[in-house]
Amino acid sequence: MARRAALWSHFDIHPVFDSRLDEVYAFDTMLARSEPPQPAPGPRAILYPALVTLIAALGGLLFGFDTGVISGALLFIIPEFHLGPAAQGFVVGIVTLGALAGALLGGAAADAVGRRKTNIAGGAAFIVGSLVSAVAPGVATLIAGRFVIGVAIGLSSVAAPLYIAELASARRRGTLVSLFQLAVTVGILASFIIDELFAPTHAWRTMLGVAVIPGAALVFGMLPMPESPRWLVKRGRTDDAREALRRVRPAQDVDAELREIAVDIAQDQPAAWRDLAAPDLRPALVVGIGLAVFQQVTGINTIIYYAPQIFEAAGFGSATTALAATIGIGVVNVLATVVAIALVDHVGRRPLLLAGLTGMVVSLLALGVAWREAASAGWLGATTVACIGIYIVCFAFSLGPIVWLMIAEIYPNRIRARAASVSTAANWAANFVVSVTFPLLRASLGTSLTFLYAILGTIAIWFVARRVPETRGKSLEEIAAFWRSSSGTSPAR
Ligand code: BGC
Repeated sequence: MARRAALWSHFDIHPVFDSRLDEVYAFDTMLARSEPPQPAPGPRAILYPALVTLIAALGGLLFGFDTGVISGALLFIIPEFHLGPAAQGFVVGIVTLGALAGALLGGAAADAVGRRKTNIAGGAAFIVGSLVSAVAPGVATLIAGRFVIGVAIGLSSVAAPLYIAELASARRRGTLVSLFQLAVTVGILASFIIDELFAPTHAWRTMLGVAVIPGAALVFGMLPMPESPRWLVKRGRTDDAREALRRVRPAQDVDAELREIAVDIAQDQPAAWRDLAAPDLRPALVVGIGLAVFQQVTGINTIIYYAPQIFEAAGFGSATTALAATIGIGVVNVLATVVAIALVDHVGRRPLLLAGLTGMVVSLLALGVAWREAASAGWLGATTVACIGIYIVCFAFSLGPIVWLMIAEIYPNRIRARAASVSTAANWAANFVVSVTFPLLRASLGTSLTFLYAILGTIAIWFVARRVPETRGKSLEEIAAFWRSSSGTSPAR
């Protein structure tokens, strides 16, 4: 009885869940009787979770690669297929629409067949889409292939962070999920380099086709990996869940963690799509969707997708120097993400978000002022590189990794996949709107456009300060308990 009282007070469980708690309590007693022998800690305790994460993060690598590779390939596709401006826009933009569809599909798939199989499906779609694009005899097939790649990106951007977060320990979750974003940035950089390497031979089919290799590594690498213990418990497969936890925490007693997961899942009814509107979920959903949208509307992809044009406009004489600057941006993006990986579980999510957003706003303002005041000055190119460099650094240690991390960690077990799916879809929708409107807005607003992104960045600072809770070091179940206890009130800091 005393143990049950302790469970009650710790998890703030409402009596309505009493009958389900009986099952958990019986399970709890059973676990207490069968304490497993504890293996000695060893390198496997660190290496295996890292390996699981790296395999899942291949989805991020492909996400980054396939969004970046098209800019270089397009130079050769345009003359071969005689593409007009509308068709060019479509070949580029269709990936984002596919990702939107894939993200919406990803949540339901991750609940129905599991996180692992959804990641495998993402990898298979990357293979198919890359092959179809690489051998496309005409623009229609190319667009179909690019759409399938988009669906793969959408599936992976929901399922990979979710899978990593659900397998990670609370202490290392920030670092491990941020490896997904590191893979995205490495993928973007790899795409710039591959475009460079194959440009002399105009080999656009090879540029698009090489993605088959990481796609195959994702599928075959994921096959022997464990399933998410949270998903297994939800399915009533407690023994499989314990086995999965033991594989990723070889040096620990996993039963306490399993108990916490079981208690959390027992007190929540299984959720359907309409539960996304439930009042107790609303504050979390506002945070997830808000962060997802702010990640895009503060302008990151105007640089990632259009960097060569921006640098050329800022006075970089040749396309070669503009390209060198673009690769420099890719390198900085990777390096600053490493900083986030080192810091996120120590200083926390909120300080990184607030510091990064502030730096982004300041660099955008500085860029806008420089472009306005010194349109023809000789130092404009250097100022542009400096401002954009600082902006990228600040994005890469804040909004870049932390948005994917928080989308995967802030929602309760019962609805995590679907809520992550909706938040991720919002990210892709915002991405689509920003990348499609950028050339038009640039034509009409000119350099003042930087001020628009700075204003949106300032709103994002206010939003983070006001609404985003700190989740560092908390288990997914503790985060869910926090929303339960604070529903209707503003999150505590
Ligand atoms: C964003 C992408 C962006 C990339 C840049 C990701 O977190 O979702 O839209 O292109 O970061 O590194």
